[in-house]
Amino acid sequence: MRILVLNGPNLNLLGVREPAVYGDRSFAALEEMIRKTAEEIGVEVELFQSNHEGALVDKIQQALHTADGILINPAAYTHTSVAILDALKAVALPTVEVHLSDISKREAFRQFSYVSLYAQKVIYGKGFEGYREGLQWLSETIGKETQKHAD
Ligand code: DQA
Repeated sequence: MRILVLNGPNLNLLGVREPAVYGDRSFAALEEMIRKTAEEIGVEVELFQSNHEGALVDKIQQALHTADGILINPAAYTHTSVAILDALKAVALPTVEVHLSDISKREAFRQFSYVSLYAQKVIYGKGFEGYREGLQWLSETIGKETQKHAD
């Protein structure tokens, strides 16, 4: 089972960026935790971070042939990107949306998510742990789907 893990703009600056909101651990530490979790639960992960909307759209399109599910923190594009929503709908893979911070308790403009119009599960406010929960959910959900098709 292969999961594409996507991180959007400014997440590469974790640790430096607004530590009171996003914590003081680095992006490298997040990627390491994701790889370790994937190994523990027995899924393959491909990690991709970009500050560019089109690059994220391209990567989602490629997932059509290379992944069984998507874990995405679209960062600021969450609240603006119909293009990312459309790409996710086009490839139609099981998708979890994750946010480090609790977007439901922040500025009004962060409380609407285009990506949530497609994502089957949305996790926010749990920091790095949200990525772990998302990977676990995808692994169980895709596992059940595969089993159903085998029966
Ligand atoms: C974020 C929340 C977004 O509103 C923000 O633009 C981000 C990070 C989060 O992980 O909490 O860049 O997605």
